[in-house]
Amino acid sequence: MVYHPQPYIIDHVKTINKEVKLFRIKSDLNPKPGQFFEISMPGIGECPLASCSHNPHQIDMLTRLAGNVTTAFFQLKKGDIVHIRGPYGKGFPLGKLKNKNLILIAGGTGLAPITSLINYIEQNRSHFGNIIIYFGFRNPEYILLKDKIKEWRKKFKVTICLDKLEGDKQCKEGFVHEVMNKAPPDTAETIALMCGPEIMMKSVTQTLNKLGLTDDKIYWSMERRMECAFGNCGRCLIQDVYVCRDGPVFRYDHIKPRLENEETSNKIKTH
Ligand SMILES: Cc1cc2nc3c(=O)[nH]c(=O)nc-3n(C[C@H](O)[C@H](O)[C@H](O)COP(=O)(O)OP(=O)(O)OC[C@H]3O[C@@H](n4cnc5c(N)ncnc54)[C@H](O)[C@@H]3O)c2cc1C
Ligand code: FES
Repeated sequence: MVYHPQPYIIDHVKTINKEVKLFRIKSDLNPKPGQFFEISMPGIGECPLASCSHNPHQIDMLTRLAGNVTTAFFQLKKGDIVHIRGPYGKGFPLGKLKNKNLILIAGGTGLAPITSLINYIEQNRSHFGNIIIYFGFRNPEYILLKDKIKEWRKKFKVTICLDKLEGDKQCKEGFVHEVMNKAPPDTAETIALMCGPEIMMKSVTQTLNKLGLTDDKIYWSMERRMECAFGNCGRCLIQDVYVCRDGPVFRYDHIKPRLENEETSNKIKTH
């Protein structure tokens, strides 16, 4: 594991929309699907970003413009140097997914770690059963990685859920859990893995529970505020677990009681 930021060359930058860019960086760091890096902007700060591909010679970062660090990152172009440390975290439990049917769910830039898992599945297709994928975006303008999604539609059962359909005939209107409720996926011998806003993951999890999938068959990839990213500073703590070191992917029955305790203590603090 790398604790100090190292310089890497940016190989390619693609503007996806006014809020999101895809950065390709040459590197042999070879992260596991679901692991993440800290991007370092000298004099400004650092922020965690997932790897959104599974390739031993490059890292792809699907980055949403959020604040200071991502604003500085957005100024960089092909050929510029970026400092990175990592990879961090445990990533997805690949061994436990073998021979299972999978339901993958991504909301917004939560697509990044899910994409690295989809790449891994494509490279090891015979190790998995049926693959069902749901993507949640605001409206057609916010659909990310359209070319990749077009390719995945040929291989897997893909549903794009839009808050506002705006005439797009290839997508479904509604939040992911609403679309799932209307046309429930088969959940036999299935594991569900998701990344997106916690409120989305909570609603989807409740729907999957109703469809017979128990909490021990559901995994959340969590995005919390971080500093060190290797279990030292405590910034990402949820009760007794470090999101950076013990996650960012958690089996839901492990993280659920901790999230519930966190919610209770937050309510007490605000009263
Ligand atoms: C493990 C992990 C993987 C991530 N992967 C990606 C990724 O692949 N692509 C991507 O675009 N973003 C990802 N994020 C979120 C990203 O780290 C934040 O958007 C980032 O910290 C923004 O840094 P900033 O300095 O530009 O903005 P800040 O000034 O730090 O924040 C700007 C705004 O975003 C909010 N924010 C910051 N961090 C988070 C967070 N973790 N969760 C929710 N809200 C937050 C702040 O409250 C604020 O409103 C990931 C986060 C984690 C923990
Ligand atoms: S970010 Fe420092 S302990 Fe997780």
